[in-house]
Amino acid sequence: MKFVVNGGRRLDGEIQVLGSKNAALPILAATLLTKRPCILKNIPLIDDVFTMLEILKSLGSEITWLEERTVRIVNSDIDPKKIDNSKVEKIRASILVVGPLLGRFGYVRMATPGGCLIGVRPVDAHMDALRDLGALVSYDEKADIYEIKPPLKHKWGSRVTLKELSVTGTENLMMLGALLPSITIELAAAEPHVEDLGKFLKLLGVKIAGLRGYEIFMKGLKHEGRKTITYSIMNDPIEAGTFMALGAASKSRLKIKGAPLSSLLLPLQKLKEFGVPFEIVKDDLIIHGSKSDLKGVRIQTQPYPGFPTDLQAPFAVLATQAKGETLIFDTLYEGRLKYIGELEKMGAKAKILDTHQALIFGPTPLKGKEVQSLDLRAGATLVIAALIAEGQSVLNGIEQIDRGYEKLEERLKPLGASIKRID
Ligand code: EPU
Repeated sequence: MKFVVNGGRRLDGEIQVLGSKNAALPILAATLLTKRPCILKNIPLIDDVFTMLEILKSLGSEITWLEERTVRIVNSDIDPKKIDNSKVEKIRASILVVGPLLGRFGYVRMATPGGCLIGVRPVDAHMDALRDLGALVSYDEKADIYEIKPPLKHKWGSRVTLKELSVTGTENLMMLGALLPSITIELAAAEPHVEDLGKFLKLLGVKIAGLRGYEIFMKGLKHEGRKTITYSIMNDPIEAGTFMALGAASKSRLKIKGAPLSSLLLPLQKLKEFGVPFEIVKDDLIIHGSKSDLKGVRIQTQPYPGFPTDLQAPFAVLATQAKGETLIFDTLYEGRLKYIGELEKMGAKAKILDTHQALIFGPTPLKGKEVQSLDLRAGATLVIAALIAEGQSVLNGIEQIDRGYEKLEERLKPLGASIKRID
């Protein structure tokens, strides 16, 4: 599938931020912890979510859509042996079923999770932490299958230190911890979506302190209640940040509704540094088309509350429109600068310094070209680039974009964007 975009038009209007992918995925997995019916609202209708739902279905989840973005899940009859590995291999987030399955059933046997090609992302932060807690982890290299069992006599440890601030690693430990007497997770990731999972676990009855910090304390469930649990997923900071970059790079007036701004402090600071005028009205962020020159900045990604790696590529398009030099330094991934080659085809001036760092020189007018969506965030980045470029662009591989942004083209059209999906 591809997008055909006729660029160079000023955009104007409002766009609503939808539910967070990276909050929805762990919370969907966390429903496996309980037999209680769970009603989840504000679920983004994106392909990664559909794949996670298929994984749950293969395990035996009863899934009913109640409204457009509201789903009811009942996990009273789950068989961990039935997991569909062909779906596990599709997304990296499938690793998130490990914590709940191990906690509730004491049995996990599954393939290595798949996902974006954005660098080496081994699952050893997960497996080493589970081993440290006493779990028996084995890996059959030939069959590419992990088998994980609880420690003998269920003698789980009560303190674990992650080997890096891994987001899904922290989430897996929290979901396992929800069914252990108590656990302290050291070097936990502090991302807003980790907190969102924590809030859902609290509704189950788990006691948690330390969310949004690097040390999380939990006391697990003693008795399972019976009432239905209803939770609304937080809005997506990364989607909001992508729209920030779009408004700023296209010098448009854009009202971004429902932006979780307290989770976007550094991206907002960077907008200021670039010289992008904006105002905040309650939960809405209004980007005003800049009349003066933008200027280059330094963007260095870091675990939260640092600048999110998932926003470095969209902000690089903004950098092509800023005067001078912008340093992009992705400290997390070594494969996340490949989109720059596609931006160069469109006329961007850049110098790749190494696998983590690049310089972008601006301002340069972009021109419509045929380009390739290499991963989810790179895809959204090229949509922004195509919208500000003069002429027509053809964006191939938009399946990547559908993994994380709900019907992006349909939501951009009311702003005045000319963008068409071709199957
Ligand atoms: N890393 C470091 N140092 C750290 C922490 C991480 O170098 O202190 C490296 C890791 O080695 C790894 C990478 O950074 O190569 C990512 O680490 P992490 O384990 O945190 O990633 P993840 O849990 O697999 C989640 C998101 C990603 C997001 C990262 C980083 C979900 C489902 N996925 O992945 O989202 O990029 O955290 O914030 O939550 C996306 O949405 O496009 C996406 C890739």
